[in-house]
Amino acid sequence: MLRVTVVGAAGYIGGELLRLLLGHPEAEVVGAVSSRFPGKRIDGVHPNLRSVTDLTFCSAEDAPESDAVFLALPHRVAMTQIEQWRSRAGVVLDLTGDFRLHDTEVFRRYYGEEHLAPKLLDDFVPGLPELYRERLRTADLISVPGCMATAAVLALHPLVAHDLIDPERGAQVDAKTGSSGSGATAGQANLHAERSGAMRVFAPTRHRHEAEIAQHLGLPAAMTATGVEAVRGAQTLCHATLRPGVGTKDVRRAFRECYAAEPFVRIVAHQRGIYRYPDPKILLGSNFCDVGFALDEDTRRLSAIGALDNLVKGGAGNAVQSLNVRMGLPETLGLTFPGLHPL
Ligand SMILES: NC(=O)c1ccc[n+]([C@@H]2O[C@H](COP(=O)([O-])OP(=O)(O)OC[C@H]3O[C@@H](n4cnc5c(N)ncnc54)[C@H](OP(=O)(O)O)[C@@H]3O)[C@@H](O)[C@H]2O)c1
Repeated sequence: MLRVTVVGAAGYIGGELLRLLLGHPEAEVVGAVSSRFPGKRIDGVHPNLRSVTDLTFCSAEDAPESDAVFLALPHRVAMTQIEQWRSRAGVVLDLTGDFRLHDTEVFRRYYGEEHLAPKLLDDFVPGLPELYRERLRTADLISVPGCMATAAVLALHPLVAHDLIDPERGAQVDAKTGSSGSGATAGQANLHAERSGAMRVFAPTRHRHEAEIAQHLGLPAAMTATGVEAVRGAQTLCHATLRPGVGTKDVRRAFRECYAAEPFVRIVAHQRGIYRYPDPKILLGSNFCDVGFALDEDTRRLSAIGALDNLVKGGAGNAVQSLNVRMGLPETLGLTFPGLHPL
């Protein structure tokens, strides 16, 4: 059994990590760290875990040594605590933005501050098995990508891997996200009266995930982010111009070659029906990322679409999948929930 600890366990990502790890046949949750609720029952904060566990939260000082620790902390807090957790766990999986960008200049541009542990940046391997599986097998420091970045990267990766995109024009990513993407901390934007019915552009330029997309794909990327009515779910509509002569068959082949053997990426290619393009609604709670595309061969304009649950494949699920890879376990262990329909 792997002994695992979740830090930031009272938050939304922390709750999803606990849900997945408590159901994982090879993991034992030995620590759930919260600074606000030490000694309180976990199911008092995460009511979906009632009767699943009798565990209580603990303080950071009381957290036991473990094989793996998951950092589900706010941005900047992870890089101030990284040495503390590294010394108490074999593998650290960080879910914050702190160790995702490997270039300190890019980090400064997107986060508006200096990095506090720049020497560690190159030691982190991205927690995205579809692109970095071999490196993850031996990684002791893993940085899980942002939710919208994951959906966009998985939607665009086959086109880049097969060199189908006109590189000068790059990609434009129009991302939509549900309200759980901003975490469990109350704020005006999260009030029901403000959020309900919203289609709120909150980052028309320079969203932090934009830099991640460019880093993973090696392609200029521009991203806009809009908050929509949903609680969970993220969808990325990625626009690109293809090289002359590239047709639908080439794009289909690229997707198939990249993802036919992937357990958590599904290619959605239906001619009819309301779910013929990737839609997060049928992915909630699951670790799938659905990808699909539409191409106008006359104008060479391609829309590649990615959809996922921001808290699962966009965060906690991707982290557990990365842990499975790192520990040599079957990659799908603890992650086979297919989502609900209807919902
Ligand atoms: N929400 C998403 O869709 C999503 C997806 C992928 C990645 N992420 C990333 O995952 C991380 C957690 O996100 P979240 O949505 O779960 O946020 P959240 O709901 O706000 O939870 C963050 C947790 O961190 C703890 N915390 C807050 N301030 C702290 C501090 N100064 N020192 C130590 N602990 C502190 C809090 O618990 P205590 O105060 O009780 O310790 C809180 O429960 C963020 O970095 C986020 O960017 C989020």
